[in-house]
Amino acid sequence: MDKKTIKDIDVKGKKVFVRVDYNVPFDEHQNITNDTRMVRTLPTINYLLDHGAAVILACHIGRPTEAREPQFSTKHLVKHLGELLKKEVKWASDCVGEEAEKLAADLKPGEVLLLENLRYHKAEKKNDPEFAKQLASLADIAVDDAFGVSHRAHASNAGVPKYIECVAGFLMEKEINYIGKTMENPQRPFVAIIGGAKVSDKIGVISNMIDKVDTIIIGGGMAHTFDAAKGLPIGSSLCEEGQEAAGS
Ligand code: 3PG
Repeated sequence: MDKKTIKDIDVKGKKVFVRVDYNVPFDEHQNITNDTRMVRTLPTINYLLDHGAAVILACHIGRPTEAREPQFSTKHLVKHLGELLKKEVKWASDCVGEEAEKLAADLKPGEVLLLENLRYHKAEKKNDPEFAKQLASLADIAVDDAFGVSHRAHASNAGVPKYIECVAGFLMEKEINYIGKTMENPQRPFVAIIGGAKVSDKIGVISNMIDKVDTIIIGGGMAHTFDAAKGLPIGSSLCEEGQEAAGS
């Protein structure tokens, strides 16, 4: 990969803003039902902590429509993240503002702070420069380890790097290397397996891949939208309204 990673910079004594994708599924009691996205960021976080950084984690959960729908709070992640990291995780009840600023300023090397859901601020999705500047002001350096959010130009991933240096985390590096290598020089037969719920987000990727792969297997929730496009009954399964045409 031709981009800088955390291995290319000195993080000792630095406050590091790490954008992660912790958009994990929960059951009705707000228990995490699949923590893969969290587990995959541990190498980056542990590397930073072991090299003397203080880590400030920023993420979104869901797509809050009103200001602060409580089911989307990142406080539901704190306990499990602490167990995974085997250390206390501090939590800020907002991702910007006085409390976050104080907690970030007081954070010592080896400590971890998790910020409240970025999307509680509409400014995140609008890539508002003032909001990005406020997020960036919490740290000395930024790390992008949220590959699953890379198709979004939001304040936390596209805006923050305008104010502080931003490098890739290990998860981002791995995904870019893997996809790059596979797309440039695939071993045949080349089969792409694509999952997820949202056809609208993946249709561009599917269109790009269609001439390169031998077979595409569509799985996950979005498979039902394709079935609906083919006129098959899908019962109460997930169907992304308005995307049946794309699915066909
Ligand atoms: C995802 O779950 O696909 C990512 O976290 C991005 O979420 P979004 O589709 O709500 O932007």
